[in-house]
Amino acid sequence: MVTVVFGARGNVGRHVAAGLSSAGEKMRLTSREPLPAGFPPGAEVVTADLEKPETLPAALDGAQRVFLYAKPEGIDGFVTAAESAGVRHVVLLSSGAVLHPDAARNPIAQAHLAVESALENSSLAWTFIRPGMFATNTLWWWRNPIRDEGVVRLPYPDSQTAPIHEKDLAALAVTALTQPGHDGQAYPVWGPEALSLREQVRHIAAAVGREIPLETISVEQARVELGKTMPPIGVDAILAAWQAGTTAPPRVSTVVADVTGRPAHTFAQWAEDHADDFR
Ligand SMILES: NC(=O)c1ccc[n+]([C@@H]2O[C@H](COP(=O)([O-])OP(=O)(O)OC[C@H]3O[C@@H](n4cnc5c(N)ncnc54)[C@H](OP(=O)(O)O)[C@@H]3O)[C@@H](O)[C@H]2O)c1
Repeated sequence: MVTVVFGARGNVGRHVAAGLSSAGEKMRLTSREPLPAGFPPGAEVVTADLEKPETLPAALDGAQRVFLYAKPEGIDGFVTAAESAGVRHVVLLSSGAVLHPDAARNPIAQAHLAVESALENSSLAWTFIRPGMFATNTLWWWRNPIRDEGVVRLPYPDSQTAPIHEKDLAALAVTALTQPGHDGQAYPVWGPEALSLREQVRHIAAAVGREIPLETISVEQARVELGKTMPPIGVDAILAAWQAGTTAPPRVSTVVADVTGRPAHTFAQWAEDHADDFR
């Protein structure tokens, strides 16, 4: 049985590919680039762009299962190509934003809902993974300041979030792809522990082996800082999440352990896995 992994060099996709490979599953990996580097040796790699449906029939030929990133542009073409190819099950990396009370006014939620809806209205079986905050986001916020200046500047240092290790999202996806019982399931995924941003920086400092001082800045200064590495829509989402984390504890969940049978990674483990990114 062939599983197609879209975005197989992405933060989550690369661990989905690794998990399928460890499980001895046949897979085909995709990239939009014609000569992709950085894939495991010997892997079958095809060029495909979810926003260019004409590229999809070749990628999906003979496949039964798909790990999918949410790209609303072209999703109808994806569904048509997947149904024609005989794909049975799609595991979608969606977003917990779809569950937010403001989802109707949130462009991130709307983009993910458009993809979910197209899959729900298709003949394909589906599983939706709906994560909250990725731990990898801290690379956007803090990698350059820590590397270049050795300091982190934050508007809400005591705001709490519950970051998720990308390996846990991949483990959920691999389980949903390879084990029965996940068709029609939508899994909200929050991290296993609530931590203040101050505590998260402390874990990174411990992993890299040096002090990382923290400075408090205004929201407007933070908007400028974050805008150096993130698009405005991402900056708005992060500042809103941090602001929310100052007044109410973030949601945590046990879904990773419940579904995969293995405990979710802590943020301290994530920081160890990524220590070199901050050095
Ligand atoms: N960050 C968060 O806190 C958060 C929270 C909830 C949900 N999410 C969801 O998670 C996603 C990010 O996951 P990630 O960190 O693993 O992403 P990532 O590291 O940016 O990887 C995205 C992958 O998607 C592929 N890709 C991009 N556009 C494509 C297209 N048009 N057609 C085919 N492949 C395409 C890229 O592959 P190539 O470049 O090789 O083509 C890349 O490997 C977001 O898009 C969002 O849907 C994120």
